[in-house]
Amino acid sequence: MRRFHAQRLAIPLPEDPLAVAKAWLSQAFAEEVQPNPNAMVLASADLKGQPSARVVLCKDIILPAGIVVFFTNYESHKGRELSINPRAAAVFHWDNLHRQVRVEGVVVKSPAQESDEYFASRPWQSRIGAWASQQSRPVGSREELVEALRTTGKRFTPAPVGPDVTHADDQPKHVEVPRPPHWGGFQLWAEAVELWVEGDYRIHDRARWVRTLAPNPDGTTFNPTPWRAQRLQP
Ligand SMILES: Cc1cc2nc3c(=O)[nH]c(=O)nc-3n(C[C@H](O)[C@H](O)[C@H](O)COP(=O)(O)O)c2cc1C
Repeated sequence: MRRFHAQRLAIPLPEDPLAVAKAWLSQAFAEEVQPNPNAMVLASADLKGQPSARVVLCKDIILPAGIVVFFTNYESHKGRELSINPRAAAVFHWDNLHRQVRVEGVVVKSPAQESDEYFASRPWQSRIGAWASQQSRPVGSREELVEALRTTGKRFTPAPVGPDVTHADDQPKHVEVPRPPHWGGFQLWAEAVELWVEGDYRIHDRARWVRTLAPNPDGTTFNPTPWRAQRLQP
């Protein structure tokens, strides 16, 4: 396996930790360190404080606002938790780069236009899946799910659908499939970020940045203070 030299965090610490995180993410893509370098574990919690975590794909890190973007079903387990308790934590781990990034903050839905644009860029089958799958709800069998995909596929294409739309590369791609209202992006506005670089003998290099988010009157954006940074013990 290829080994990377894990670089230390700069002295003095960088002003914007998410600029560093974005550069690390780009490097992870460029060096193909893992199949999904943008995979991150996303933790949410219900109103009793019970956390739940799962992997989602980070589709953007917006600078300088400091926003991590991912897409999902708003009616899924995570979607429902984030609507009642709009706080989340995310963790990236690039094992081959010996790096970890932790982000904590406040979650809002992405602007509809951004969700529309990203949805339109997805493969036809994925768009059909977003309509057909009631993510996180029980389903009787795999066949029931495939039938739901088939039925949904027929709604959005004038041509007869193949026997298995999950592998239907021959489907007409020109048929417009609008974004379902229950599917879209979430923006995780960072209030805290930790950068972690693996060190020999567990003497890791860690630093944590914090800032405060003042909500803007529009209710969907924030006015952040500058970041304040501290090194942490490993
Ligand atoms: C590599 C990987 C990437 C994934 N990306 C996403 C994603 O971007 N959005 C999503 O909703 N689920 C994604 N999933 C599936 C989630 O982990 C999870 O199963 C699903 O969102 C339902 O989670 P929930 O029931 O907690 O809402 C991904 C899973 C893996 C392993």
